[in-house]
Amino acid sequence: MTTVTVKASQTYDVKIGRGLLDTLGEEAARAFQGRTVCIVSDTNVAPHYLSQATHSLERAGFTVLAFVFPAGEEHKNGHTYLSLLEYLAQEHLTRADGLVALGGGVVGDLTGFAAATYLRGIPFLQLPTTLLAAVDASVGGKTAIDLEHGKNLAGAFYQPKAVLCDLDTWATLPADILSDGCAEVIKYGMIGDADLLDTLAQGDFREDPEEVVARCIAHKRDLVEQDEFDTGSRQLLNLGHTIGHGIEACSGYQLAHGKAVAIGMTLVTRAAIHLGLCPEATLPKLVNLLREYGLPTETDYPAADLLAKMLSDKKRAGDTISLVVPTGWGKSQLYPVPVSQLPVWLDRGLGK
Ligand code: GLY
Repeated sequence: MTTVTVKASQTYDVKIGRGLLDTLGEEAARAFQGRTVCIVSDTNVAPHYLSQATHSLERAGFTVLAFVFPAGEEHKNGHTYLSLLEYLAQEHLTRADGLVALGGGVVGDLTGFAAATYLRGIPFLQLPTTLLAAVDASVGGKTAIDLEHGKNLAGAFYQPKAVLCDLDTWATLPADILSDGCAEVIKYGMIGDADLLDTLAQGDFREDPEEVVARCIAHKRDLVEQDEFDTGSRQLLNLGHTIGHGIEACSGYQLAHGKAVAIGMTLVTRAAIHLGLCPEATLPKLVNLLREYGLPTETDYPAADLLAKMLSDKKRAGDTISLVVPTGWGKSQLYPVPVSQLPVWLDRGLGK
């Protein structure tokens, strides 16, 4: 097992290894003073892991409740959120009790936001069951639900008490979902770790993922420690996300997040090359790596549709957007781009 410690407004450990679901009870006993825990999960994950998580908590002496909601981004909404809060109130959970997010990014984001707001804050643990949630969503304290006008528009920064990345839970992940998480792994390499990119190119890390996952989490830890509230360097984590957001939104959120980010990284790299900010050789290397991990690199959506969706992105601040621009293999930097210049970036990205 590897442990990465995050020192943000709350200090907590992210543990990465096998068999960690069975240690949930001990972890909860360290994190929660009360004796009641509510596990929040979805209909994809609960059939596989809810009873194992429940037994571990019961062995540690907890009374265990469960709130299971229908799987899918479309359920990360106000209705599910309020139903969860009402359920916690009905069951009389107190501030000493705790929540456990058992699932992927949707479960983690929604549970975290409920934990941040129920009784003005109760503790919670993250137990990410997807690669994407392990390397990104579960670490760093961004919690949210979607509004009708867009993704993650209501939320809070609220750190978990601990994160348990149990690699055994990936055994039941469809290959497609695992490949989706690889986009975020490649993203860490492109932000600032050329060695990681080379390691990923040398062989499929998914056969023995602990070291690579821990390395990605350590990169995220560094950025979160520098800029917990996302006003500066943490925004590097948005590489590929500005155009990716447009693609995801154009697909009506039918295209998975990681796939949209993979296309977004390709397009912003191509644009950076056209604008003289990045060496040409970066693009074929990136495209090859993304394809090796089963990820798409192009989109058919028209520029005008993509632009309209990109402009509704919350990463925009007034008339400027902080674009993450690759400047080489394993190197990126933040680049303030006037919104009026976005069509040029997009057209160059699309190869026009
Ligand atoms: N998912 C990007 C961040 O946590 O900042």
